[in-house]
Amino acid sequence: MTDAKAPTATADANPGFTPRVFSGIQPSGGLTLGNYLGAIKRFVEMQGQGVETIYCMVDMHAITVWQDPEALRRQTRELAAGYLAAGLDPTKSILFNQSQVSAHAELGWIFNCVARMGWMNRMTQWKDKTSGKDAEKASLGLFAYPSLMAADILVYHATHVPVGEDQKQHVELTRDIAAKFNHDFKVDFFPMTNPVIEGAATRVMSLRDGTKKMSKSDPSDAARINLTDDADAISKKIKKAKTDAEPLPESFEALADRPEAKNLVNIYAALAGMTKEAVLADFAGQGFGAFKPKLADLAVASLAPISTEMSRLMQDPAEIDRILGQGADKADAIARPILEKTYDIVGMIRSRR
Ligand code: TYM
Repeated sequence: MTDAKAPTATADANPGFTPRVFSGIQPSGGLTLGNYLGAIKRFVEMQGQGVETIYCMVDMHAITVWQDPEALRRQTRELAAGYLAAGLDPTKSILFNQSQVSAHAELGWIFNCVARMGWMNRMTQWKDKTSGKDAEKASLGLFAYPSLMAADILVYHATHVPVGEDQKQHVELTRDIAAKFNHDFKVDFFPMTNPVIEGAATRVMSLRDGTKKMSKSDPSDAARINLTDDADAISKKIKKAKTDAEPLPESFEALADRPEAKNLVNIYAALAGMTKEAVLADFAGQGFGAFKPKLADLAVASLAPISTEMSRLMQDPAEIDRILGQGADKADAIARPILEKTYDIVGMIRSRR
């Protein structure tokens, strides 16, 4: 088993709030092994444990950078197919695309008026994406991105958000926004959401450079495994992954200065549901000539069925759209009353019937 835990009422730092899980992924390109291990696999582990799980395809976030409309539609369906193929079940989790539940955008606006420019300016993802004069050309939406993300989470009063390490700062900002709202309006309305960053692969690195995050936007396809890659491609990418000439050590600490080796051990542990120590106990003293074929077999056995199922699901886009529509109705039923109460707290007249 992995060390993933479902939230429980006792583990929850928010007395008075029912534990609820929310997370999202941008449909801005293909899904990678990083998205799978850092997010989707965790989403599946948290499903069906007695706590409501809500998983979103954040299409409104995706358009903070240019998206071709047809490509966005296809990528959103592909992401939904990825969720389903990996084991998310629409009878156990709420699955939908963000733009179908307008409460996200509405609460996002209110949070734009709560959050401060300085907070947004300090976000490392904003700084990374807009180094130097690029900030002038970035969309206003990209700057306000974390405020919409806070709305995604808080419009459900979500208490737990499973994410990879790169999203930690955004979830912490969500707490800052909740705290400022509660303070400004003298209420205890929004919970202090906890990021859930657990497991062996909260930061999966590039297969070509162990110091860089594996990313869908990396120009080199060899740097990542895509969830749409077939068995042959997965196996080839792992066998060609950058490594070093040393054998694997007995302790994980000994990998501190070997980022590529460390990454492959983490990937193995996450895919096998083992600890890193257990992986090293099995492979200590062996070189990558022995380790890589085993990792390739494991990756193919875990990922190729997902890729096959994704292509099958993609044959029936109408069925995917139906699932997303039903999910959006369920999401809306939770979000709308929370949004209405927020409008009321802020002092807005809501007299339409
Ligand atoms: P996004 O779409 O960039 O990534 C989706 C999820 O995948 C994780 N992830 C990784 N985990 C480990 N190793 C990697 N190399 C790796 N690459 C990506 C991310 O940490 C994330 O969990 N802002 C979010 C989307 C979002 C969201 C939300 C998430 C919008 N609203 C509300 C949670 C709650 C994002 O851009 O993720």
